Amino acid sequence: MRSNGCGDLRKENIDAVVQLCGWVDRRRDHGGVIFIDLRDRSGTVQITVDPDLAAEAFAIAEHLRSETVLQVHGKVRARPAESLNDKLATGAVEVLASDIVVLNKVTGTLPFPVSVHDEENTREELRLRHRYLDLRRKRMNDNLRLRALTIQVARRFLEDEGFIEVETPVLTRSTPEGARDYVLPSRVCGGDWFALPQSPQLFKQLLMVGGIERYYQVARCFRDEDLRADRQPEFTQLDMEMSFMDEEQILQLNESLICAIWKSVKGIELPRPFPRMTWHDAMERYGTDRPDTRYGMELVTVSDIVQDMGFKVFSGAVKSGGSVKVIAVPGGNDALSNVRIKPGGDVFSEAQAAGAGGLAFIRVREGGEIDTIGAIKDNLSEEQKAELLERTGATPGTLLLFGAGETAIVNKALDRVRQYLAKELNLIKPDRQNDTWNFLWVVDFPMFEFNSDEDRYEALHHPFCAPNTNDLGSDPGQWATNLPTARAQAYDLVLNGLELGGGSLRIHDSALQRQVLQTVGLPLEKAEEQFGFLINALDMGAPPHGGLAFGVDRMVMLLAGEESIRDTIAFPKTQQARCLMTDAPSSVSEKQLQELHVSSTWVDPADDED
Ligand code: AMO
Repeated sequence: MRSNGCGDLRKENIDAVVQLCGWVDRRRDHGGVIFIDLRDRSGTVQITVDPDLAAEAFAIAEHLRSETVLQVHGKVRARPAESLNDKLATGAVEVLASDIVVLNKVTGTLPFPVSVHDEENTREELRLRHRYLDLRRKRMNDNLRLRALTIQVARRFLEDEGFIEVETPVLTRSTPEGARDYVLPSRVCGGDWFALPQSPQLFKQLLMVGGIERYYQVARCFRDEDLRADRQPEFTQLDMEMSFMDEEQILQLNESLICAIWKSVKGIELPRPFPRMTWHDAMERYGTDRPDTRYGMELVTVSDIVQDMGFKVFSGAVKSGGSVKVIAVPGGNDALSNVRIKPGGDVFSEAQAAGAGGLAFIRVREGGEIDTIGAIKDNLSEEQKAELLERTGATPGTLLLFGAGETAIVNKALDRVRQYLAKELNLIKPDRQNDTWNFLWVVDFPMFEFNSDEDRYEALHHPFCAPNTNDLGSDPGQWATNLPTARAQAYDLVLNGLELGGGSLRIHDSALQRQVLQTVGLPLEKAEEQFGFLINALDMGAPPHGGLAFGVDRMVMLLAGEESIRDTIAFPKTQQARCLMTDAPSSVSEKQLQELHVSSTWVDPADDED
């Protein structure tokens, strides 16, 4: 149907007779001559229709609407000097049409324009409802191509390293990755349910027991959790597992993989090695396990300086086992008024949303003088003041923002305020093509965190991570005591404040696996019932193994300079986990429910009110 791609025509093609197919991007009537921008996946080219040379084609061109599908026959010629367009790859040429065939018409009203000239500002809801049209737009089309390239490079790299792709089941039983499961009733095994995998975690470990040694998969995962810009209920992992490799080798291999992707997709040679930070340092200095290291404003702990102060908010926090931490905002005196930090202000609201009661502050003036609200100022000795200024590195003009209270809440609040201020104060380059790539390995995660609501330990990653052998000790009699505070041999790769991937070495000893399951509150019989197949497999010559999974959607989002993973997925769900195009999830017939031995308890809130 076509001889060339629209976007492929260059000066070298001048005088060639070509046949093109594509969509009408724009049509312009220039008093006598009609210009059509014709678009296909390769790009756009200008078609010129002259009534004196092609009367029939002109009659068709006169009535063309945007997005009509055309086949155009014509001859490539140089554009006149005054109409050269150096913004367009094909801008030196045009195609003088001799014939136009309409392959398909647009009959309805287009919900939004597709042309790159009018691309921005379409409501996302409309874009998602008519996703097929949205995908035709350059931005989304480019994103899907970038996604395919990213996966292609990853596959090549891993296969060259001896990995093979193995598919694991989607109809399976629940894997504890921390979110709710999507479940499916079984028709044949009445009363039983499948769970869709939150990740292929257990299967990939069993593949190691199965002697595969190097596995990877571009794996679809399902998690029923609260959605955000970087979370979808259905997402894709680049998942891998390997035997007989230690943590260092796994990190090195994955750095090489990431470098290969960035080189092929962005043409960027990333500096190596990627920096590393322990989980403990990350929490201390940034209040989060995925610090954005593109800018400073680190958290500084000052509990020891203020613990005996008369200002009870500070001393009380330390006495009850919490902390007082500070962010020093350079130039913050000018940039942030008191109104913004006090109750009702935007900065205050950020801290409050993270659970903090408020933000105390000190403004540092010329000559080391300070301004504070009453209670701090009256209770701060000269010595304490000097220590605070020294530890925070504050200079005249600096604003010190304090969080005081339970350490977890202080960290959460100051992390949030820090990220908010980085945006407000333009500390990060705002453009979509931001080329600062701050990779960071966060290592030495704790095995568990204590869930005080449920009064039990929870696995920080999942309960299959191997503990640090030094922390565990060699005597199995000590495991139960040592485990709760042990570090895991687990690692996350963070990029510009986003968790790109994570993994760990795994437990390959059945006794230790049982012990860890008990530590997270699973009694032995329950552990056997849920994970008996894994524990048995570990007893049959399981090799030492470990692995990692990257979030493909997030990786592509960052590579494409997008702000939401919805823009990197062909058919994503909304924040309400709904597909607006197909209107899934939807109801099913009573007959289907009966066959599945299921009845619904759902009551429509609207009906309930009546
Ligand atoms: P984890 O739960 O950290 O680890 O997931 C790995 C990576 O998957 C991405 N990710 C998501 N992306 C989009 N939407 C979501 N809802 C979502 N949840 C997670 C993140 C994350 O870093 N089995 C382990 C890996 C292992 O130990 O090998 C796992 O799934 O980028």
